[in-house]
Amino acid sequence: MTKKKKKSVTKKKPAPVAAKIGPAPRKWWVDEQDGPPRPQRVDLPILTRELRRQSRVFMEGADPIFIEDLNGRIADCNLEVERVYGWSRQELPGKPALTLVSPKYHEYATKLLARCRQGETIRSAESLHITKHGQEFPVLITLTLMRNEKGEPEGIATIAKVITQMKETVAKKTKELHSAERKILEIAGVEQRRIGQDLHDSLGQELTALSLLVDNLAHSLTEKGPQSVALHKITAGLKRAQAQVRELSRGLMPVDVDSEGLMAALNDLARRASDGEATCRFSCQQQVLVDDNTAATHLFRIAQEAVHNALKHSKAKTITISLAHKDGQITLQVKDDGVGIQKSDLEKTGMGLTSLRYRADLINARLNITTGDNGGTLVSCSVARGRGGKPQPARAL
Ligand SMILES: Nc1ncnc2c1ncn2[C@@H]1O[C@H](COP(=O)(O)OP(=O)(O)O)[C@@H](O)[C@H]1O
Ligand SMILES: [Mg+2]
Repeated sequence: MTKKKKKSVTKKKPAPVAAKIGPAPRKWWVDEQDGPPRPQRVDLPILTRELRRQSRVFMEGADPIFIEDLNGRIADCNLEVERVYGWSRQELPGKPALTLVSPKYHEYATKLLARCRQGETIRSAESLHITKHGQEFPVLITLTLMRNEKGEPEGIATIAKVITQMKETVAKKTKELHSAERKILEIAGVEQRRIGQDLHDSLGQELTALSLLVDNLAHSLTEKGPQSVALHKITAGLKRAQAQVRELSRGLMPVDVDSEGLMAALNDLARRASDGEATCRFSCQQQVLVDDNTAATHLFRIAQEAVHNALKHSKAKTITISLAHKDGQITLQVKDDGVGIQKSDLEKTGMGLTSLRYRADLINARLNITTGDNGGTLVSCSVARGRGGKPQPARAL
């Protein structure tokens, strides 16, 4: 019985797949005459079945897998490589494995391969691969060092998971999220404006009328008794309430609607920012008129956040807000001489910097945030100026 089985194994030596397609692969099947006599208990049919099973897992795996030798030449690949990369299995053996990697990622891939050769398994590294016809696609690669039976490195197996669809889904979701955030900013801006206007027009007017009434009443009293003292206290209280309403509505509606409103609001911002350690000044060489109050308010809010950031994070001594108009462009800049913004901070999605970008986007402006060579941060926002000083087109705040 055992004899019969052995015979069939020898006869049905599996066809060496890679032999058809290039340099002779390592021999992975078992010949009876190979090596020293094997102990009788090795069940060759089981071994063969196992090898066939593993071979099928390799060949029919859902992800492209290719194996390269230690010189970086492709030795073998599975069927998925044909489907994804457009090369046939006959063409690839002997070609540099970097043939499958986008040139933009050659340097990175070479570094990863070197680490893998040292024995490290690289898991889920993002890379960019390329088809035979030059089409690039994103992949997550896993690199494993393959060793022979003596434990010596022999080659590297790469599993490349194609993540085009995953990336597209993430990009779509991110876009949706950004547009929702932008919408919220727009709605919040409209609401702020409405509340500011209401405060100013209704409560502000009411308080003014009341304080006039109380003033008149106080003057009509001939005697300086406790009633007159109380009325003076009421007048003073009403004046404070009026001032608070003005502050509140200015915070909600910072830029006056006339075209000079932005210059005045920036000047005011600089004055108020100079209260603490830093000096803040507003520089405006010529009149810059902005008719569109929505755009002017976005520009003001950008300056306001940049100045707040400079005060809060930069340890600057001097902050300069400048507004200029040149070659049909209105440019707003906030510059500080502080420690400078870190590159990593620019990559983060902090609410302040994100809102700067959204606001710039809403008025079709170009926003740049840079660190000077000697420290300091420059926030620069440029917008094309339409007719009548209107940066166009701007969406509602
Ligand atoms: N002018 C600046 N100088 C130095 N660092 C800054 C400056 N502006 C911003 N940053 C850095 O960028 C980060 C993100 O800013 P931001 O999104 O406005 O968030 P927040 O001000 O709430 O921390 C800050 O936490 C800070 O580390
Ligand atoms: Mg901030």
